[in-house]
Amino acid sequence: MDLTVRPVTPGFGAEVLGVDLSQQIGDNVFQQVRQAWLDADGILLLRDQDITAEQHIDFSRRFGELSVAAGGTALSAYYLPGHPEIYRVSNKKVDGKPQGREDAGTYWHSDGSWQPAPPMASLLHALEIPPVGGDTIFANMYRAYETLSAPMKRMLEELQVVHSLGAAVLKTSYGKEYVGNIEEAMAKNATHPVIRTHPESKRKALFVNKGFTSHIVGIPQAESEAILNFLFEHSTMPENLYRHRWQRHDLVIWDNRCAMHYAVADYKAHGDRYMHRTTVKGDKSY
Ligand code: SIN
Repeated sequence: MDLTVRPVTPGFGAEVLGVDLSQQIGDNVFQQVRQAWLDADGILLLRDQDITAEQHIDFSRRFGELSVAAGGTALSAYYLPGHPEIYRVSNKKVDGKPQGREDAGTYWHSDGSWQPAPPMASLLHALEIPPVGGDTIFANMYRAYETLSAPMKRMLEELQVVHSLGAAVLKTSYGKEYVGNIEEAMAKNATHPVIRTHPESKRKALFVNKGFTSHIVGIPQAESEAILNFLFEHSTMPENLYRHRWQRHDLVIWDNRCAMHYAVADYKAHGDRYMHRTTVKGDKSY
């Protein structure tokens, strides 16, 4: 069976039609979905996926090994009981108890870019959607790289950049909920090239994000800030974005190696949003 794939923007992102993940899909169909995801620069939408947590996990595992909740951390409460592969993102409370992490990713980031081997992919499934708002915006980091001038590309090629959890604690909504001390958050960091090569497509992508990126290595702070601010602005220009307006049972798969995203927290006065996310482990950047 050949799947139908249609673009969601003129330049990147696609929707696949004709796949029902509540049924077992064969390797041939999975490979077509995976290829469609790579061809769409790492943003793929599958609508109407009325699937269980187990089916979400099984499908996600076909992309690679999944991250699981580490017990006893600040984030462990947000994982789905009995399913440590599922991270819950939600503003919902039941009997005063949060049903997920409310302000997850409400800033530009690539999931876990502060880790030495950041996650390859994330699969977010919408179970409850507010009547308005709660969109997720994606930025295409291949295009962010490709639309830089040749001299700028040459300069960035040499540079390494530090990403840290501490940067997000200082600069984003992460700060409100982080329970550890800032030194410990700063110590959770990794150094990556500013320009990374996607290990499958072999294309180059800009790998900086406003949430987790702290500073460029080996240059004065003022220069680092000026360069990074330019890159943040450049990578989020409107032509480079896809804004996903969620429908119940949408599944969106993104590639953290060539896309970053931003969860818009504008919906809370209008209703509940409840999402399940799985995260596929990745490799060291180069
Ligand atoms: C995330 O950053 O994984 C959360 C995205 C979202 O809730 O839209």
